[in-house]
Amino acid sequence: MKIFLDTASIVEIKKGLAYGIIDGVTTNPSLVAKEGREFLPLVREITALLPGPVSIEVTASDPEEMIAQAETYAAIAANVVIKVPINLEGLQVVKALSGRGIKTNVTLIFSPSQALLAAKAGATYVSPFVGRVDDISGDGMALVEDIALIYDNYDIATEIIVASVRHPLHFVEAARIGADVATIPFATLAQLLHHPLTDAGMERFLKDWEKVKH
Ligand code: E4P
Repeated sequence: MKIFLDTASIVEIKKGLAYGIIDGVTTNPSLVAKEGREFLPLVREITALLPGPVSIEVTASDPEEMIAQAETYAAIAANVVIKVPINLEGLQVVKALSGRGIKTNVTLIFSPSQALLAAKAGATYVSPFVGRVDDISGDGMALVEDIALIYDNYDIATEIIVASVRHPLHFVEAARIGADVATIPFATLAQLLHHPLTDAGMERFLKDWEKVKH
């Protein structure tokens, strides 16, 4: 399973890349707003940090305007993936962009039917938001299972990005299901590694090492 960092923070991306386990980055307008920076220079800086895919979201509602935004962002670097919201206009945009060889990540996926239509329009990736489904007492990972089953039924090549990840169990379940990608917030990275028995084991080894003549 590929791991993307779900952030627009240059500091977090640099740290994550240093760990050697980050394959890509996803951003959204809320994550970009948190950085308090001018948009295009930030996108240029992020895309230069790694060769892997970097999702940048269009914000217009008119398809022609979305396509114009997408072309501007895609021209910045070869690793830009255009994030497009799932709706009728979005499908039209995905179709047009895939025809021009521009990769897309269809976002705000909350149902298997949305994921199937996004794939039919030519989406490179779909992003089901598991945490937000859980937030309203749904089962976010069941949504991912359904999408994976449907894509498998028809040999659909669109990759599933498990998004809106809130905790390590989402990550583990994503891998169990066989999702292509999990995009995780920086804080979740450390949580994935933490285990009290690893900490206790290290502490004991280091204490015992003090008794060894060296
Ligand atoms: C990533 O593609 C999504 O925009 C992000 O994971 C949403 O996460 P949130 O539901 O925690 O805002």
